[in-house]
Amino acid sequence: MPEYAEELIRGRRAVRSFRPEPVPDETLRAIFSLAGAAPSNSNTQPWKVEVVSGTARDRLSEALLAAHAEQRLSVDFPYVDELYSEVHQRRRAAFGAAMYGALGIGRTDHQARDAYQAESLRFYGAPHVALLFAPSNADARMTADVGMYGQTLLLAMTAYGVASCPQGMLGFYGDVVRDCLGISDGKVLFGVSFGYAQDTAPVNHIDVGRADLAETTRFHA
Ligand SMILES: Cc1cc2nc3c(=O)[nH]c(=O)nc-3n(C[C@H](O)[C@H](O)[C@H](O)COP(=O)(O)O)c2cc1C
Repeated sequence: MPEYAEELIRGRRAVRSFRPEPVPDETLRAIFSLAGAAPSNSNTQPWKVEVVSGTARDRLSEALLAAHAEQRLSVDFPYVDELYSEVHQRRRAAFGAAMYGALGIGRTDHQARDAYQAESLRFYGAPHVALLFAPSNADARMTADVGMYGQTLLLAMTAYGVASCPQGMLGFYGDVVRDCLGISDGKVLFGVSFGYAQDTAPVNHIDVGRADLAETTRFHA
């Protein structure tokens, strides 16, 4: 088990270039059934998940791109830059340098960076996207449950050879997502673009590393 867990957990990484072929229906069902085994407070399972493929996926992408072009944002979970401490900012900058470096986009090339943000609304070419909803009145506890579901989903995908990219950016357009999918309530915590990885893309091979254990974890006895 430890070797499997090491391989599964460390083998998952955010993929940002996909091949177009869809994941078979049977595999989709197996992955999303497995993800439902995620733990939650009092087993409430407060997540709602919308899996979008085919022409519905294309329509959603077009609507997101239109909203992005018009700067029509509706952020379900507001993003506050100042909440990040210095160390968080440092890690974030290192991640950005690794990703934009692999894409050949310079630090000050804001136009290219913006264009790449728009590319993320094409789901990086992935044939599917799953939107993870928390209840409209979700507090931190319920939101954490949806996060638990999210990581379980990513690992289930990895186990089935399916690549993924969680995308908080998709939650910046909550109204567009709800309109397109015919949903009246729930808040988008994040989306997950998924499919089969384009192995030749350098951006799929960045290693963003992690903080040393001692930076995040203390053992008391
Ligand atoms: C909740 C969440 C939201 C994220 N949002 C985005 C996003 O909007 N765009 C993106 O390219 N990556 C996004 N990521 C991916 C992270 O950048 C990535 O997980 C992190 O850099 C660690 O890299 P790894 O997943 O390859 O280990 C998100 C990850 C999580 C967990």
